[in-house]
Amino acid sequence: MKSRIHYTKPSITELEVRYATDAAANGWGDRCYEYIGRFEQSFKTHLGAEFALATSSCTGALHLGMAALGIGPGDEVIMADTNWIATASPIVHLGATPVFVDILPDTWCLDPARVEAAISARTKAIVAVHLYGNLCDMDALLAIGARHGIPVIEDAAEAIGSVYHGKGAGTMGAFASFSFHGSKTMTTGEGGMFITRDADLYERVLTLSNHGRARGQTKQFWPDAVGYKYKLSNIQAAIGCAQMERIDVLIERKREIL
Ligand SMILES: Cc1ncc(COP(=O)(O)O)c(C=O)c1O
Repeated sequence: MKSRIHYTKPSITELEVRYATDAAANGWGDRCYEYIGRFEQSFKTHLGAEFALATSSCTGALHLGMAALGIGPGDEVIMADTNWIATASPIVHLGATPVFVDILPDTWCLDPARVEAAISARTKAIVAVHLYGNLCDMDALLAIGARHGIPVIEDAAEAIGSVYHGKGAGTMGAFASFSFHGSKTMTTGEGGMFITRDADLYERVLTLSNHGRARGQTKQFWPDAVGYKYKLSNIQAAIGCAQMERIDVLIERKREIL
């Protein structure tokens, strides 16, 4: 009989059940964003990040961030050839072209030399995917980005808890995305987080994530642009709040398993 390694299942305790039950019973009306706000705040605190927006998935967070950076038709975005398709699909949806480059044999993350060789006049961004929680060589990638005036995006879907020279995965690039799919170190069932320290980028992403409705807009139901709908629900955020209270334990256990 062939043995199979199954996907990891999340660690769910009475705390997650209690918060989710409370959100389902009481988190409506003027309390409908309560757990979402708490979740974003606790995630920011954990990471030491400045701006965080909870999203329905990491793919959604990538799509929003790339759209807000102005990536569009005719542009190229450099990424690793060993990757989950979720990093490439937002690039294609925006009408841009993913340019695939090889990975390093030890980290399975982008080879900086290959990245630099792939840069063209059309390159609009580099996506550094921290595959399986391994870290990209961010010093080298950020230096390449700075030399060419190209933002480096961190796809930290699998990398909560990974630390690069004292900096948490997701705190170094123009923006970062995390995934809370049920197979990840922490979960909300489905879900994601957009992270940045750029106030303008955050504002653009916030507007895009809410059907193009800017938060300063006083007119009801008034979009200023055609946006997206990539929000996390309050019930999912309630599970996320409980997971964030237990995040050190979850990361420690993940390290033990690896
Ligand atoms: C590297 C990477 N990027 C993006 C994603 C997409 O995450 P989500 O399923 O939350 O959209 C995943 C999820 O598996 C991933 O592993």
